[in-house]
Amino acid sequence: MSAPSIITIDGPAGAGKSTLGELLARRLGYLFFDTGVMYRALAWAVLRLSINPEDDEAVAALVRRLDIHVQPPGDATDGRPYTVLVNGVDVTWELRHPDVERIVSITARHPAVRADLRDRQRAIGRRGRVVMVGRDIGSIVMPDAPLKIYLDASVDERARRRTNEIRQRGGSADLQHIRNEIIRRDSLDRHVSAPATDACIIVSDGLSPEQVVDLVVSRIDCKPDDSQDTRAYDRAETSDPAGTR
Ligand code: DC
Repeated sequence: MSAPSIITIDGPAGAGKSTLGELLARRLGYLFFDTGVMYRALAWAVLRLSINPEDDEAVAALVRRLDIHVQPPGDATDGRPYTVLVNGVDVTWELRHPDVERIVSITARHPAVRADLRDRQRAIGRRGRVVMVGRDIGSIVMPDAPLKIYLDASVDERARRRTNEIRQRGGSADLQHIRNEIIRRDSLDRHVSAPATDACIIVSDGLSPEQVVDLVVSRIDCKPDDSQDTRAYDRAETSDPAGTR
C-alpha cells in the first residue's frame, strides 16, 4: 500500500514525536515539518524584543511581521535536523534555550498567533508528502489528513528520556526537575493537546524509536479502534480556542 501523503503526529512534550517524525519522513522520503519550531521562533523573537509574552496584541502584531523559514540543514554538521531562520537569522539552536521553553506555551496561547501560524502550517501541509508534528495538527490544522498518530508516553518515561538525552549530550540534568517541567508544560499545553477523534493512539513506553516507526508503518491503515491504547481523553479539550477549525 502506498503511504498517505500527509501524516500528522501529535502528542505531549517529550513523547518522542520529533524522533518518530524524522525517522518516518526519512523512511518515506517525505518532508519532516516540526510545527513547534514556529511557536518557538515567535517566543525567541518575543524575548529578543523584550515584549511581554502575555500581551496578546503585541505578540499578535509581532507574529504577523515574523518571517519564519524552516529548511533542510544543508552543510551544517552539528546534528541539526533542519535550520530555522527568523527574519534571516539562524536561530536553530537558540530555540532550545530554557528561556524559550519558559515562555513558549504562553505566547502559543494567543488566538491570533494560533490562527496565523496554523495558516502557514496548512500551506506547507497541503503540498503533501509531509510528516507534520505538533499538538493540534490532526485535530485542527490538517483535519482531513489520511493518517493521524497521537503519540503518548507516561510522565516518568518522558522525564527519563529527556534526562538521558541531555546527559548523553554532556549536559547535567536532574530527573525530578525535568519531571516537574514536563508536568508544567502538559498543563499549559492541555488546551491544544488532545488527540483528533480519528487518531491512532500509540503509547511509546518501553518502545525504541525504531519500534514505534515499525508500529506506525504496520498500522498505516489503522482506525481509531485499532489504537494500542484507547483511554478516554476529555474530548472537550479538542475545542479550538482560536475558532479556526
Ligand atoms: O513541540 P515543542 O515542544 O517544540 O512545542 C513548543 C511549544 O509550542 C509548546 O508549548 C506547544 C506549542 N505547540 C502548539 O501549541 N501547537 C503546535 N502545533 C506545536 C507546538
